[in-house]
Amino acid sequence: MGTASDAALQRRTVGRGVRWVTHGPLTARHVADSRTRTEQAFREGGVARKFSSVGVIGLGTMGAGIVEVFARKGVDVVAVEVDEAALERARASITGSTDRAVAREKLSEAERDALLGRIRFVVGLAELSGVDLVVEAVPEQLELKRKIFAELDEVCRPDTILATNTSSLSVTEISVATRRPNQVVGMHFFNPAPIMKLVEIVKTVVTDETVVTDVEALCESLGKVDVTINDRAGFIANALLFGYLNHAVALYEANYVSREDLDAAMRLGCGLPMGPLALMDLIGLDTAYEILDTMYRRGGRDRRHAPVPLIKQMVTAGLLGRKSGRGFYTYEKPGSPKAIPDAATPAPVSAGDGATVRTVGVVGSGTMASGIVEVFARAGYDVIAVARAADKAAKLRDKMTASLTKGVVRGKLSEADRDAALGRVTWSAELERLADVDLVVEAVVEELIVKKALFASLDEICKPGVVLATTTSSLPVIECAMATGRPADVVGLHFFNPAPVMGLVEVVRTIRTSPEVVATATGVCQAIGKQAVVCADRAGFVVNALLFPYLNDAVKMLEASYATADDIDYAMKLGCAYPMGPFQLLDVVGLDVSLAIQQTLYLELREPGFAPAPLLEQLVTAGYLGRKVGRGFRDYR
Ligand SMILES: NC(=O)c1ccc[n+]([C@@H]2O[C@H](COP(=O)([O-])OP(=O)(O)OC[C@H]3O[C@@H](n4cnc5c(N)ncnc54)[C@H](O)[C@@H]3O)[C@@H](O)[C@H]2O)c1
Repeated sequence: MGTASDAALQRRTVGRGVRWVTHGPLTARHVADSRTRTEQAFREGGVARKFSSVGVIGLGTMGAGIVEVFARKGVDVVAVEVDEAALERARASITGSTDRAVAREKLSEAERDALLGRIRFVVGLAELSGVDLVVEAVPEQLELKRKIFAELDEVCRPDTILATNTSSLSVTEISVATRRPNQVVGMHFFNPAPIMKLVEIVKTVVTDETVVTDVEALCESLGKVDVTINDRAGFIANALLFGYLNHAVALYEANYVSREDLDAAMRLGCGLPMGPLALMDLIGLDTAYEILDTMYRRGGRDRRHAPVPLIKQMVTAGLLGRKSGRGFYTYEKPGSPKAIPDAATPAPVSAGDGATVRTVGVVGSGTMASGIVEVFARAGYDVIAVARAADKAAKLRDKMTASLTKGVVRGKLSEADRDAALGRVTWSAELERLADVDLVVEAVVEELIVKKALFASLDEICKPGVVLATTTSSLPVIECAMATGRPADVVGLHFFNPAPVMGLVEVVRTIRTSPEVVATATGVCQAIGKQAVVCADRAGFVVNALLFPYLNDAVKMLEASYATADDIDYAMKLGCAYPMGPFQLLDVVGLDVSLAIQQTLYLELREPGFAPAPLLEQLVTAGYLGRKVGRGFRDYR
């Protein structure tokens, strides 16, 4: 395992090409270096193969983007569709996409015209006889792909490389439909192809090494970053992504959380570029269904990949996502990225919701408590902050003062605003001071016995009608509720760390929480500038329930030696635009914390696929807890 800080690059020559082996997180330097690899291959005597014309078959969601990738880099493209109508749609899609690039000043008009001039749109495979490479991007069906590859074998020159963009099918099975399986390779682009940097290059046991190195050099000349891997269902990124997407659809299907809240949770809670349902719409539900189905059958029949029934129902109903104009969301028109309001769009939070709350009590003296006090005080609420003892209350005050002062130094806050926020807080060691507040937020230690005792005390102290909230991230909110004689007034308010920065709060309703209390909690979140996501009281709520199994799966993939931690991190960052790869994130969150959350999920849901990865358990036992101790998956010392 390399260190995160040195990000050293070693170079290894394989066959005629040059391959960089990277250690540590990907930096701008890696990307820049990768661009020059093809030139280096020439300089060092290797003859990187020149691809001056390529064919792309199937110009749907992926194929149209792949055509654009090649044409932008000066490669002539024969763009193949099944009939004239499909060809017309593809032409419109590529023109629309390049027009948008011109409007965003990413492309000049002359560049757009030259790009479009390099594309020849045709029906049928006959015109592929002269190309150097074919990339197939037809629907994810094995027999269709095998048929096309058998025909390509007849049509194309003997030295033409045949690549499939399949997401989950066996490249090996596709390759043996030809008489040149050694020249067949997977080139798995990511959606949208012109934007996403990653290409997974999939080699089979018979793919020639020179074919692999030539395709690697080609990807680099296209400005892409490649990872080369063996032929396994879902490769790296989809193997980690699709379990998560399917799980998200299951939560939505079970009415556990609304579509907007589900997507907002993952965007704001994890910094993902889009939520899972919006991503399903972008991928296409028919394609997603086929990928899941194949992964279920090829990938060890993991129940988490068995497509959730709702997906099949939506496909049957023609709700395929953006491409058909409707999927989980409704779009302006087929193919449009713009979602428009529909019957399922929630009403905005009413202005009156939360207005009854003027004073807030916060109990606890840790990081979350001080962050939450700051959030409410800055939003103009009078706050009573209660710690266990006077010295802890004083420390809490110092912590919040330091945090606000940092805001002043960074120019995010004026001195007057800092002083006003501090002036709104009363620091105390007496719980009785909470008798008259309108909302109590509890942020004490994550131990059920302590929280239950606290809620029993709050029940005795607080006036009737007060909203009592817990910030627990893993305990059942209903346990806190039932420690009081007023369970309808108890709700979860799960803030994220650091509370002043993170824009999300999960509002957890138990089976006893009243709708009025949920509305008040949601209104208060709006008033403090946070996005409320309402969900039911189940282990992990939304964010942790979806995030940690994915992280655990990444550890299992590493443990199985399918790919390195670096390649897995790159795949998720460059293929899915995640802000961090799974191993970077695990080291930041802490391996002990991650293991505890995964254990909670496993124990509550009893899903065999959620069993913590043995490697994660071993690292925790060994004391490799992540950045906080200087060593986790990577060494930071
Ligand atoms: N959608 C994604 O996010 C994504 C990402 C990476 C890889 N992939 C993979 O890319 C491939 C294509 O997926 P998609 O989402 O673009 O599908 P799509 O349904 O959007 O497009 C498929 C296109 O293939 C055309 N086609 C069908 N039969 C054909 C034939 N015989 N000859 C020529 N064209 C034909 C269709 O008319 C259609 O335009 C699949 O293997 C998929 O797994 C998809």
